[in-house]
Parts: sequence; C-alpha cells; structure tokens
Amino acid sequence: MSTYRKAVPSTDDAPRGAYAALFRHVLTRLDAEQAHRLTVRALRLAHAVPGGPALLRAVFGTPHPLRDRRPARTVLGAEHRSPLGMAAGFDKDGEVPLALLDLGFGHVEVGTVTAQAQPGNPAPRSFRLLADQALINRMGFNNHGAQELARNLAAARRTERGQRAVIGVNIGKSKVTALEDAAEDYRFSARLLAPYATYLAINVSSPNTPGLRDLQTTEALRPILEAVLEEARAAARRLRREVPVLVKIAPDLHDDDVLAVARLATEVGLAGVIAANTTIARPESLLTDADRVHSIGAGGLSGPILAERSLEMLRLLRRELPEEAVIISCGGVTTAADLRARLEAGADLVQGYTALIYRGPGWAGRIVRKLGADPWG
Ligand code: FNR
Repeated sequence: MSTYRKAVPSTDDAPRGAYAALFRHVLTRLDAEQAHRLTVRALRLAHAVPGGPALLRAVFGTPHPLRDRRPARTVLGAEHRSPLGMAAGFDKDGEVPLALLDLGFGHVEVGTVTAQAQPGNPAPRSFRLLADQALINRMGFNNHGAQELARNLAAARRTERGQRAVIGVNIGKSKVTALEDAAEDYRFSARLLAPYATYLAINVSSPNTPGLRDLQTTEALRPILEAVLEEARAAARRLRREVPVLVKIAPDLHDDDVLAVARLATEVGLAGVIAANTTIARPESLLTDADRVHSIGAGGLSGPILAERSLEMLRLLRRELPEEAVIISCGGVTTAADLRARLEAGADLVQGYTALIYRGPGWAGRIVRKLGADPWG
C-alpha cells in the first residue's frame, strides 16, 4: 500500500537567489524550530507596520489588482482566490494568518491547537533532511491552547479583510487527556473556536501524541466526529452560516482504513477529508544517509517523499466520497506541476508546508501564478 518512491526533489519553481542564499547561509545554521520562530516573528512585524501587508503581497504574493481579477471559487462556504493553502502546524496559535494570506495562500489552516495549552516535546524536535527537501518533526502539539487561539482569531476577524479571510482551525487532543475522553476534549476546542473558523479540521493523524493515530479506527473516531459536529451545528445556528467539519488522516493508513474513514465521514455528515499528515515511515528511497535519518529518531516525515502516496490517497478518496464532499490534498506539493496534478485528480483545495521552508516566502504566489489566469484550470 504505502508508496514512497519518488524521492528526488524537483528543481522546478525553485526559489530566486535571495532566499536561496538566506536559506543556505543563515537559516540552515539555525535549528529548524529557531528558524521557524524567526520567520513567524518577521511575518508578524512585516504585517504590523503601515503598508506592510501591501508590500508583502507585492513582493511575495499575488499583487492585489491582478489577484482580484482572478476567478474565485466557493469551497466550504467561503470564497477562495487560490486553491493553495497553508497546511496546519506552521501557525499553531493563529499569530500570522493574514500575513500568510498576503504571501499568496488562498487559505490558512491554523493549529493544531489543543483544549489545554501544552509545551510539546523536548527540543530539538524539528530536523531538516536537506537532500530530500524534507523535514522530520516531533513537535508534539506545542501550543498556547484553544482559548488563546480564539483570542487571536477574534482580533484577526475584527477587520473587514479578516472577516473575509479563509481560516480553517485544526484541533487535536491534549496530551494529558486519556484516549477514552478524547471526544470531550475535541468538543471543548470546537465550541470555543467554531465562531472564528471558516472550517474545523479534526486532527487524529499526528504521530507525535501517544495513541492519537489509534483514534482513526471507526469505533474510536465516531464519537469524536459526532461531538465536533454537534458543536459546529450549534455554532452554525447562532452564526447563521455553516461551519463545515473535516477530518485529517495519516498517509500510513491502509487503503481499506482510508475507505472506512471516508464512509464514516459521509455517514455522520462531515464536509470532507484532508489527506494527508506526515508519515512515520522512513522510506529507503530517501536520499539522506540512512544513519543520519536513524539518528534523528521518532517523528513525522514531510516533503516531496509524500507526494506519491498523497496523490494515491486523493484518487482513492475521490472514488469513494460523494461528489459534493471536499477533499483537501496535502503532502509533498512543491511545484506548479504538483499543484496542477492534485487539482486534476479532483482535489478541491491543496495545502503545503515543507515546500515553504525550502522555497521561501514567494513559493505559494510563484506556483499559483504559474497556473495562469485561472488557477483552478
Ligand atoms: C506539521 N504538520 C501538522 N499537521 C497538523 O495537522 N497539525 C500540526 O500541528 C502539524 N504540525 C506540523 C509541524 C511541522 C514542523 C511540519 C513540517 C508539519 C503536517 C502538515 O500540516 C502537512 O500535513 C505535512 O507536512 C505534509 O505536507 P508537506 O509539508 O509535505 O507539504
């Protein structure tokens, strides 16, 4: 089942000189997590200064007038200017969602956030595999908790632009909560965050919270989906808009289990599926030295190595799910050709994370622009 053959990173749509130099000479000298923190801080600063958002858009994203002439598409009840979104994990606490949109993403999925704030695993916990343009992370849902995310999103939603912004909220289980109490833990976060969420994503696929991925069995998953759906529907009645709910699954699931989750999602009334998260596999086709990979230890692997399995899951889900179900395809998307392939295979939306690290802040704008005047094809 699991397919991780195509490992050689493409050089198409590679970054321009300045980011390539910054990455090689500065960022790679820092620990991957430190580099990430620096990037978030820089984005926050750039977005806070007068004229900053417009500058970010002009330099990296899709310039305003051009962007606004592009056909939008309504997915999950919201208008998307681009099919490519920022995957969960980059902006866990919702510090910079609008700045990320300025970089040319059509939507941002913030989180994973948990009901209770938690520190995550001991550092170092994020590692680069340079030859593969891949990452291994065992962050362990470090986040400031659902309450702080709700505050941050309330602030972001205060502006007119913030109200229109497409922001998904990804929720996970607090580490201290027992697996059998998971549904109530997810319910707590869903209740707090639904008012600010374009959609809610239920994360049962991170490899870094002990036992979390066991929640992907249909028996364990059903009460969680039902609890979150109940909260999303209650919020929808108050807000007079839908709050769609999706589930994010692991690439390590067997195809039969992918299909079982898809059937359950349809049965309980989920809006769709996000496929996929990072893998716990360590494919032999990785270019990085096996000893080095081994020495890094546990964690989720991301980047181009995931592309083939992610595409395979997309095709499987497209066959199984009803036409109106939304599929967000995630994993290994790096080039404009990757993005196009996902859309052609039936993805409604596409997400990426690791390519942003290797290819810089202009990455999303660059590959979306390459799709032409109508990025949806
Ligand atoms: C992630 N990812 C992730 N996913 C999620 O649902 N919640 C999370 O908190 C995180 N955290 C996280 C941290 C880091 C450092 C990375 C690299 C990734 C997974 C991410 O959203 C995505 O599913 C995978 O990385 C696969 O896509 P890419 O990176 O190959 O485009």
